[in-house]
Amino acid sequence: MYDNGPVALDLFCGSGAVSLGLKQAGFNVVGAVDYEVGACRTYRANHPAVRLIEKDIKKVDPNEFSDLIPEGLDLLVICAPCQPFSSQNRAKSSADKRAGLLDEAKKFITRYEPRIVFLENVPGLASTSIFGEFTEWLHREFGYQVGEPMRINAADSGVPQRRMRMILVATKGVVLRDALNIMLHPKVTVGDVIGDLPVPPIGRSEDLEDPLHFARRHSALNLERLKHIPLNGGGRSSLPARLRLACHKNAKSSAFSDTYGRMSLADVAPTLTTGCTDITRGRFAHPVQNRAITLREAARIQSFPDDYIFHGNANQIAMQIGNAVPPRMMFNIALSMMAALQPLSNSSVAIDAES
Ligand SMILES: C[S@@+](CC[C@H](N)C(=O)[O-])C[C@H]1O[C@@H](n2cnc3c(N)ncnc32)[C@H](O)[C@@H]1O
Repeated sequence: MYDNGPVALDLFCGSGAVSLGLKQAGFNVVGAVDYEVGACRTYRANHPAVRLIEKDIKKVDPNEFSDLIPEGLDLLVICAPCQPFSSQNRAKSSADKRAGLLDEAKKFITRYEPRIVFLENVPGLASTSIFGEFTEWLHREFGYQVGEPMRINAADSGVPQRRMRMILVATKGVVLRDALNIMLHPKVTVGDVIGDLPVPPIGRSEDLEDPLHFARRHSALNLERLKHIPLNGGGRSSLPARLRLACHKNAKSSAFSDTYGRMSLADVAPTLTTGCTDITRGRFAHPVQNRAITLREAARIQSFPDDYIFHGNANQIAMQIGNAVPPRMMFNIALSMMAALQPLSNSSVAIDAES
């Protein structure tokens, strides 16, 4: 039916994690949009054949892809920024302009009427009026069958990370025959994916064997703090009073209780954020070494393969990794969408992420 696989567009593509999962499942990703310079460099390095429009999506005309989509669009992926709806964003406000970016996808839907619209975001999005209006619009204007928003955990998809996400699938003329293929996978732990890595050198340099595997240089005070954090756990409450931050000393609430904590080798990691190599921003210390996890460790916890190329400075790469949809989770979901797009007689797509 398809020469190169079903045709997909990846909106808010970031470093290309979604495109990677889609391609691994057999999709033909022809176009993508993002405006962040570092992420776009990374995207191009890994997906050179995809037409990436590096612009604010508000200024992108959907027709910039029309020559690549002569026979209709099969899949439109929308991963708008999640910070406006995230429980981890304590400063969120309904006035956050990024919240309106979901609506920018409407012009692509109007132009191409894709057979599947796939949306990934934080669970908080599902309870907003923006989301309700968007799903109602899909049904009213184009007759999409809009599924219930699903709350999923990346850890159920073989990703060594607790990452709660909301996904929504709307279809037109195709039926998702199976529930999305996400709950079938055995638990993978932090130790499974980073346990074989060597102790990293401190600081980034040109002659690193692995350009992502270097430890952040910690202050003497933070090194002292790390020495008090029990292996495979702990948190800021493990610190003696003299080493606690003034702002934490009198805090009654459990806010930020994970800071300075270690991941556990025997468990999945907490949700990686854009600050995932900073021990002051979450449970991002190594399970047994006195340092934050490296970018390589973060990339593995997000299920990026080691040959994925990242561009940018350390903060930009941490942002690309923390923002990503875990490619393994995306691959598993994409298999189900692939199956839906195949004619019934040809629907025996492998459902095993390990194969
Ligand atoms: C949650 S991240 C997407 C992650 C990506 N799907 C992945 O798997 O790596 C959201 C992305 O939206 C991009 N973005 C935010 N506002 C944008 C805008 N106005 N136009 C284009 N891209 C934008 C950000 O640069 C960021 O890469």
